[in-house]
Order: sequence, then structure tokens, then C-alpha cells
Amino acid sequence: MSIDTHTQERWGTRIGLVLAMAGNAVGLGNFLRFPVQAAQNGGGTFMIPYFISFILLGIPLMWVEWGVGRFGGQYGHHTLPGTLDELTDRKKAWAKYIGVMGVVMPLVVFIYYTYIVSWMLGFSLFSLTGGYFGQGTPEEKAEGVRKFLVEYQTVQDGSGLITVLFFAITIVFLGWILARGISGGIEKLALYGVPLLLVLAAVLVFRILTMAPQAASPSDGLNFIWNPDWASLGNARVWVAAAGQMFFTLSVGMGSIQTYSSYLRRKDDVTLTGLSTAATNEFAEVVLGGTLAIPAAVVFFGVAGATAIAQGGSFDLGIVAMGAVFQGLPGAEIWAFLWFFLLFIAGATSCVALASPAISFLQDELKLSRKKASWSIAGLAALIGLFHVVYLQRGVLDEWDYWAGTFGLVVFAAFEIVLFSWVFGIDRGWEELHRGADLRIPGFYKPIMKWVTPIFLFVLLGWWGFTEALPTLLMEPGVGDRYADPANRPYLWIARGTIVLMLAAVALMVRRAWKRRADATVE
Ligand code: PHE
Repeated sequence: MSIDTHTQERWGTRIGLVLAMAGNAVGLGNFLRFPVQAAQNGGGTFMIPYFISFILLGIPLMWVEWGVGRFGGQYGHHTLPGTLDELTDRKKAWAKYIGVMGVVMPLVVFIYYTYIVSWMLGFSLFSLTGGYFGQGTPEEKAEGVRKFLVEYQTVQDGSGLITVLFFAITIVFLGWILARGISGGIEKLALYGVPLLLVLAAVLVFRILTMAPQAASPSDGLNFIWNPDWASLGNARVWVAAAGQMFFTLSVGMGSIQTYSSYLRRKDDVTLTGLSTAATNEFAEVVLGGTLAIPAAVVFFGVAGATAIAQGGSFDLGIVAMGAVFQGLPGAEIWAFLWFFLLFIAGATSCVALASPAISFLQDELKLSRKKASWSIAGLAALIGLFHVVYLQRGVLDEWDYWAGTFGLVVFAAFEIVLFSWVFGIDRGWEELHRGADLRIPGFYKPIMKWVTPIFLFVLLGWWGFTEALPTLLMEPGVGDRYADPANRPYLWIARGTIVLMLAAVALMVRRAWKRRADATVE
């Protein structure tokens, strides 16, 4: 095992690590994706499959990923190709290629997620200047915000410069943080950013719950999101949505948790800290995220209006509806700013987690310095990101979000749990998790990790693959708006092709790195 400076990079403090992991998990998923998923999938009833997914998928995968990451770190591997190779005792040549997904998927998500986060920066500023503010009824105001948003996102006309500018600022900011390293950059950002975002969210929750009733009252808003619709429990789509949300919000099935935990020491606890990360995320999601956008939209637009908005998706709710809601409050500029800035901070601490596997990969396998690796990834993201900036209306962002951010992570998690519980072996795995542990995992989690989680995942994948992934692959118009217009197809194929190319490129790098290592041991 070679000891180089990279292998010795570590988290500075335990609180820093906990906040960085929380920052990784808490993101746009908590404040934008969750409320829409809940509202679209049965309201309060959504919490039943959601909670079951948390117990049977979320928590076990969180533990496994913390354990797997720390395990790889001991061998000087900070990404999954190397880690899965060690996890299979270097006896399964294919395992490292499965690990390629754990480098490419987070990079793919990083690129489009960062673009979205840059909108939040833009809208923070436009809030302070009142740039998108308008007159009239709430509906008219919302229409105004929508027009402003669409104009902002359409770079083909003259307004492109500002969009590109905010994207560039966001990328440079993230590159700068990433180049400063694990404890010097990521940990510092989390140390300030995560407490700040929790406070901002709490302040906004308070403001929304004390809003004067308009079309409806704040309690109608809470009723709307939490009102159970029991019939939805029999709907398989609702279960898939709940599991999908669980993956995305906890950041599991990606590779980013493992990269973070690979910078732990051999005997640092993973059980208690892993569980606290999951718990913090759920608090931020269910309590804070569940009380912000949807209830606010109900107060302003009434139940029917809010339902229509939720059908429009996360950005309709988070940007269009919220942009209009805050205009009705005294001190509108400030409240709107706080909302978008909250989203920016929450997003930024997730962005650095998404970029980390690719950066650590370049350090480990190509021996690049931290600085060089960080700026290379930031540069690549800027370049490929421009494709999304220019062709957003073609649906390329949604295409990437589906394959990497929705379906891919479940596929990867299925491989991962089988490698951990079956190939590495649950008994060894259990021991690995408990080295230096501050919490004994309840014994019933052993059969859960060995049987229940993998079976749950395979059933999910089978059903989902058949009913949705396959039609999506075939671009059937029914599964996504972007497939309705045949003119979009070339762009969507380019989007898919880029993912395949990235997978192939990283697989080649893995092959060369392993070959070089083998040659070095023979000599
Ligand atoms: N969990 C983040 C969110 O809720 C997104 C994310 C997914 C970040 C995967 C890292 C890895 O927004």
C-alpha cells in the first residue's frame, strides 16, 4: 500500500465531517423535489412507502456506504473502482468496472445540478433587485415570474450572457472550494453553510406558518400536503416514487458518500455518524422541506391552484410559485432572497459532494494534484454544462436526470449491496461496520442487509425497468414531455451518448491504471 500525501488527506474534526455529510445529503432534493413528490403521490399517505423505504433501503445503504468507503480508504482508494476491487479481494476483475458508475454518475449529476444551483444564485440577486417582480393577482405575478424564468433560461436570444455568467460564477466558486481540499475546502464550506441553511429554513418556516390567510390558511397548506389518500397505497408508482426520492435525498447509490467516508481513519465510527446523517437529512426534508413551498403555495393559490402548480414540477413550485408568494409579503425582496439563497447554499454543499468522486479518482489513478484535479473537473463541467445551458428546452437536462439521478443510482445500489452482503459476506461486513463503532446496529439489520434490501431493490428494478425505464429508453411520448417533439431526439441521443462516452473513458482509465499497477508489482 503506497502512502502518498493524498492517502493522508483526512477530515479535520468530527463535527466538520458530520456537517459535510449532512451538506452532501441536504440539497435541492429536500426543498424542491420532496414536496412535489409528496403532493403528487398521495400526500400524507406518501409517507408510508417513504418511511418503509427509509428503514429498508435508506438506513442500511447509508451504513453500507459509510463502511465501504472507509474500507476502501485504508487501501488508498477513494473511489469505487478501487474500493470494489478490494471488497472482492481483487478476485473479480469486473468489480472495478461496476465501480466506474460510482465515478461517472455523480459527475453527470454534478454537471446539471450545478447549472440548476446557478439559477438559485441568479434568482437570489434578482430577488434583491426585484427583477422578476410584477403586479396584479397572485396568478398574474406567477405568470410574470414564469416569463422571466423562461427568458432567463433561453440563451439563444440576447439574455444568454447573464445565464452563462451565473453558471460560470457558480462553477468557479465550487472549483475554488474543491481545490482547497477535504478539510480546507469542503469541510469549511459545510461548517458555515449547513448551520446557515438550517437557520434560514427555520426562519422561512416560521414566516410561512404565520402568513395571513389569503386564498387559504397555512393550516390548509399543511392539510393539503399531509392529508392521506389511502387509495394511492395500492399504486406501484407511488412506491417507486418514494424509493426514488429516498435514494436521491440521502445521496445513496451514487458514490459520493463512499468518497467522503474514505477520508475517515480506520477506527473512526461509521454507525452512529452514518445514522445521524440520515436523521439530519430527514429532519431537513420532512419537517422543514415539507412545511415550506407547498403550504406557502396553498396559502396564495388555494388548494386547486397549488395542485396545478405541483403537477408542473419542482421548478414551477420552487421558482415560479415561490417567486410570486414572497411578493405578497412586506419586505418581499428580503424574503425572496432568503429562499433562493437557502436553495443556493443547500445546493452548493451537495455540488461539492457530487464532484468529489471524479476529483479523487484523478488524484488516485492519474496521480494529479488536488488543485489540478479540481480545476480539471470544474473545467469539464463548465464545458459540458454549456450543452445543457444551450439545449435546456430540448429536454437534455431531464434526460440526464432520469438516467443518472433517478434510475442509475438504484441500479448501482443493487450491485453494491450484493457485493457487500454476498461477495464480501455479511459477517465480514458486519464486523467491518462495527470497527470503532459508537453504536451497535440492532441485530435484525443483518438479515435486512442480506435479504430484504437486495430483494426490495431487485423487485423495484424489475417493475420499474419494465414499466418505465424501457419505454423511456425507447423514447415513448407517454413517459416524458421531451419525447413528444421528434425534433428533440437528436439532442437527447447526444445527451445519452455523452454519458456512455464518459463511462467508456473512465473504464479505460481504470484499465490502464490497473495495468500500470500490475506491471509495477512484477518489476
Ligand atoms: N441529496 C442531494 C439532494 O437532496 C442530491 C445528491 C444526490 C447529492 C447524490 C449527492 C449525491 O439534493
